[in-house]
Amino acid sequence: MRTESGYPCLRQDFDPRRMELLATCVPGLEKLLSARLRQLFPEAGEMQEERGRLHFALTGDIPSLYALDLADNLYLRLWEGPIGPHKADLDAFRISLRRLPLSRFGAALEIRPASRWRIAVSAARSGKHSYSRFDVANAALEALCERPCFLPGDGEEHDLSLRVDVKDEKALLSLKLTGAAFRFRGEERAFSAGAIRPTVAAALVWLTHPAAGDVFLDPFCGSGTIAAERARFPVRRILASDISPQAVAAARRNLPPGAVLLTADARSLPHRDHSVDALATNLPWDVQIQVDDLLALYTDFLREAARVLKCGGALTLLTDKHEALLSACRLTGWTPRAQAQLSLHGLHPAIYTLTR
Ligand SMILES: C[S@@+](CC[C@H](N)C(=O)[O-])C[C@H]1O[C@@H](n2cnc3c(N)ncnc32)[C@H](O)[C@@H]1O
Repeated sequence: MRTESGYPCLRQDFDPRRMELLATCVPGLEKLLSARLRQLFPEAGEMQEERGRLHFALTGDIPSLYALDLADNLYLRLWEGPIGPHKADLDAFRISLRRLPLSRFGAALEIRPASRWRIAVSAARSGKHSYSRFDVANAALEALCERPCFLPGDGEEHDLSLRVDVKDEKALLSLKLTGAAFRFRGEERAFSAGAIRPTVAAALVWLTHPAAGDVFLDPFCGSGTIAAERARFPVRRILASDISPQAVAAARRNLPPGAVLLTADARSLPHRDHSVDALATNLPWDVQIQVDDLLALYTDFLREAARVLKCGGALTLLTDKHEALLSACRLTGWTPRAQAQLSLHGLHPAIYTLTR
């Protein structure tokens, strides 16, 4: 991810000073994101969690922030200040942005050397205000474009993308550091029904505590999102299977050549007893992938997981069929622990770790 394309890339020599940053994530993933951040960057300053967001600061040489695989997007926080509730208060907001030192953008502007940058500004608003989010975005665009180096751009055509978040009487202006290629891990991926976001898959994988000697398995692999995330860590072998040959074909396009891909039923896997170190998977939820008897499927799969996993092997799952999972765990002797309750497209799946 170091050389990930997208909006202005952070370079190691980006800015030797303290950077204030914002990472966004799937709502519910904040705690795991902050734990992952702390593991990758122990020097990160105090973190502040909000729904779907994590604010933090880093000082010194810029580490490779793009390693933050549970984040959907990364932003450089440029300015935070008061904003009144009335439309007339937007004048004071404009003045604040006019005064914003260009140095706050740091070397982000050097990444795309130009004499003038086209900027796009979007805004989100919560609280009681007599202006809309579009008024806020326009006010910011106008104020910033009073500088000779900035030109108004739009959502399609721009060099830099900024956002303003207004919450009650506080506004935050930030510069986007990542494009869609960051959270989707490039633009060439093949999808199959029920595919999950790579950032959620990264959380499932990370909870297995990846080790270089691992044999890793995803037996409901779909398009291989989870196995592809596992492949970003050192590994001995990646096994991925699905009952659908179409899903396996999609996974083949997304996985590195060394991964072993099979068409197989997760209730009766072709692997030897106790041959797998870690298993992470996204069970069918009977929403996009129809299942006749969810409890039977979960129960048979959990028995098979107990057979193929080594003693003490890691097992992480994603499902929104909590009752079926809890019942299947009771029947098979697994103890589930919910690690994160997510909010995804109106559904509320949870990430579970299971132990025996
Ligand atoms: C939620 S999807 C997995 C999506 C995947 N994580 C991705 O990102 O593409 C569940 C998958 O389970 C597969 N499936 C359903 N029943 C199965 C079974 N008995 N054995 C193996 N795979 C099964 C479906 O074909 C589907 O691809």
